[in-house]
Amino acid sequence: MKIGVDYYPEQWDRSFWEQDAALMAQTGVKVVRIGEFAWSKLEPKEGVFDFEWLDNAISVLQRFGMEIVIGVPTNCPPLWLYESHPEIVQTGADGKQIQTGIRGHRCVNSPVFMNYAKRIATQLVLRYANHPSVVAWQIDNELEASQCCCDECKARFRNWLLDKYGSLEEINAAFGTSVWSGEYSSITQIQPPNAYPKAWQNPALCLDWFRFTSESTTAFVKEIALTMRREAPKIKLTANTSVSENTPDLYKLFDEVDFVSFDNYPPAEIPKDTEEFYSHAFFLDMMRGVKGKSFWVMEQLSGPTGSWSPMSRTPKPGMIMGYSLQALAHGADTVVHFRWRTARTGAEMYWHGLIDHSNVPGRRFFEFAELCKTASKLSVIDTTELVSDVAILYSPENRFALRLQQQSEGFDYLEQLRYFHAAFSRYGANIDVVSPDSDLSNYKVVIAPSMYVYKKSSAENIYRYVINGGTLVMTNRSGVKDSNNNCIMEPLPTVYRELIGAEITEYDPVGKNEQTITDFAGNKFVCSKWCDILRVTTAKAYAEYNDNFYRCCPAVTMNRYCSGVVYYVGTICKMDFYESFAGNIMRQTGMPRLKGLPKGVEVTTRTNGLDDYIFFFNNSEENATITLPKPMYSIIDSTGKDKLELKPFEMEIVRK
Ligand code: GLA
Ligand code: ZN
Repeated sequence: MKIGVDYYPEQWDRSFWEQDAALMAQTGVKVVRIGEFAWSKLEPKEGVFDFEWLDNAISVLQRFGMEIVIGVPTNCPPLWLYESHPEIVQTGADGKQIQTGIRGHRCVNSPVFMNYAKRIATQLVLRYANHPSVVAWQIDNELEASQCCCDECKARFRNWLLDKYGSLEEINAAFGTSVWSGEYSSITQIQPPNAYPKAWQNPALCLDWFRFTSESTTAFVKEIALTMRREAPKIKLTANTSVSENTPDLYKLFDEVDFVSFDNYPPAEIPKDTEEFYSHAFFLDMMRGVKGKSFWVMEQLSGPTGSWSPMSRTPKPGMIMGYSLQALAHGADTVVHFRWRTARTGAEMYWHGLIDHSNVPGRRFFEFAELCKTASKLSVIDTTELVSDVAILYSPENRFALRLQQQSEGFDYLEQLRYFHAAFSRYGANIDVVSPDSDLSNYKVVIAPSMYVYKKSSAENIYRYVINGGTLVMTNRSGVKDSNNNCIMEPLPTVYRELIGAEITEYDPVGKNEQTITDFAGNKFVCSKWCDILRVTTAKAYAEYNDNFYRCCPAVTMNRYCSGVVYYVGTICKMDFYESFAGNIMRQTGMPRLKGLPKGVEVTTRTNGLDDYIFFFNNSEENATITLPKPMYSIIDSTGKDKLELKPFEMEIVRK
């Protein structure tokens, strides 16, 4: 495992570079990312390039043995470019251009911008692709599905729709525009649905807008990647991401590059509400699932965060080390910390790095230094991978559509995924978070929460999995929408009815009201947010409602279909239900379960086929004690152990 830092030589006087690089080397830093916002320094005037400073910064870092990731700085075009080509600036929903002086406000659909972006990318690869210290390239920074409403974006969106549907009549039919006099009589009447809360707009239009904006971003990445590879076919490319409001379809975004990288900022404050999720394990598994292989963390929590938001708590002792090792436990092979130094100037001066404004290395820095030491002992992990029996299906489209039309008060798509993730984690299971279109044949259990918008390939994939003997869990709000995001006129869950062996006669969006269900063994659980009232055909009730006019109706069902088994969870419960449910499923499918893990302790296993390495991470503020079934060898401190005593946020890795 390699530890790195994000560094901004352009923000510091040259006299710092040498001493920074020396301290990095002494601390054990191996990787440095630079350059992703430095366009104005690289091309200070139109067509005039200045690489002298970057040559210098790179050679200083090289001299101290650093591997370098260069960021292609397309996120921040220089102000001269905006001045000479104002049309490349994004336009907001109000029709006004966004004020320059910030970042990320260029239109990825602008052909003029694309040319300049390709030129700077080309210049950079020509100069550095063969540099022995340059190991990878990051395209842009945290690319989002941009919500630009400029004329270019509008024109492209309209053409995209015409390409997809063939004619205006077909668009009207697909969008069902007879509602609210929404019929288009000319293509120019179609507008990006950004001016009002999207929920007031036609959901079919909104879903296509999401698809279009996501594809625009992906196309931008592809174009830059092709341009760079034309000059340097062997370079390793990535694009970093986070999970935010406008995250594009990650599966498509990363299709164009070699590896996934994630910007990982787990919370420094542990919520008091025990039902609230704070572990980033789910997101880490999601990043590994994008390409089904190891990934990088390109930015990792290093201090109090804030700037556009109030500052967060500072990471507690153990978090700098623990959260990086947690990323390793879930498949990260390089973790780059954001950032080496805290900025003194600019909008981000309170998003703290490892070294504070004081310029005096402190507690967090020393913990980071310890992390570098620990990481250097873990090379045996480099050749290992996670093999999982459980998969949770994550669909960017379902996430978008369910955020667009929140189904009831408190209803949240990702929350359901996270409940199941947390539940199987309680027993130490490895979990993949993957696309509904990925190969499911090797999983013992597949969880498919809220398969809301119909996609033929995904539905077929899910049926195939069950027909071949898989165990599937589906939940409420499945089969609701056709691929245009319009409702399907059939009893729910429509296309999945046969699979679950039951149908929904009615639903009650109970929101924050709490009710209870009782399972087949007499255990009672609180439920809220959503209640599907089910009538079984071939299924059996697993749990029934206790309240309301649907008292005694099934809330959770179990069905045998071909050689598989399908569960359907029609409501949303609290953690205790999911834990008990996951435990039962693991027993049914013969998966090994670790019992009695202290709360907050996360266990994953990485294997190289010969040896298994078990990671025990105490993601809690309490000390935790774990008795191992047999003595095992710790690769953290090279001793044999039969019992683990973990301090808050401490990681232990043992060979099985
Ligand atoms: C994101 C960006 C970084 C920085 C951090 C912290 O992750 O990629 O450039 O802005 O947030 O604010
Ligand atoms: Zn635009």
